[in-house]
Amino acid sequence: MKIAIGNDHVGVELKRHLTDYLTGKGYEVVNFGTDAPESNHYPIYAQKVAEAVVSGQCDRGILICGTGIGISISANKIKGVRCALCSETVSCQLSREHNNANIVAMGARMIGPVMAEAIVDTFLTTEFLGGRHSIRVNMIADIENGVELS
Ligand code: RB5
Repeated sequence: MKIAIGNDHVGVELKRHLTDYLTGKGYEVVNFGTDAPESNHYPIYAQKVAEAVVSGQCDRGILICGTGIGISISANKIKGVRCALCSETVSCQLSREHNNANIVAMGARMIGPVMAEAIVDTFLTTEFLGGRHSIRVNMIADIENGVELS
């Protein structure tokens, strides 16, 4: 599985940690984030990872900023992205099972490296359940396409 990873200046250290962790597990990790410590702008990296995922260049995405909030909001502006902000594994598991999340976002100021490892493990190994959840996920796409839901 090919993973797109992206981060702002706050997420550099956690991005490096997770890249080493996932590479060690055999995943291919493509770095779309910054490696510079100077203050920069998280929407840039959200857009890069989002486009890599929706284009099919990468299978899944991981985004990191200080809280995970700004970078997840940004990613969810891209059509086809379902980015879930997670601080623990249960919501991450459900974001895959129910929402077919294709990007996970985390806050480097909110969680530590061990929780981040558990979250990415969950995100990359949990399957979408389909069924009734497909109806709802398809409705998210309808919203993107301007359909008035009822
Ligand atoms: C940067 O200071 C910070 O605002 C950013 O990393 C993120 O937390 C925004 O949501």
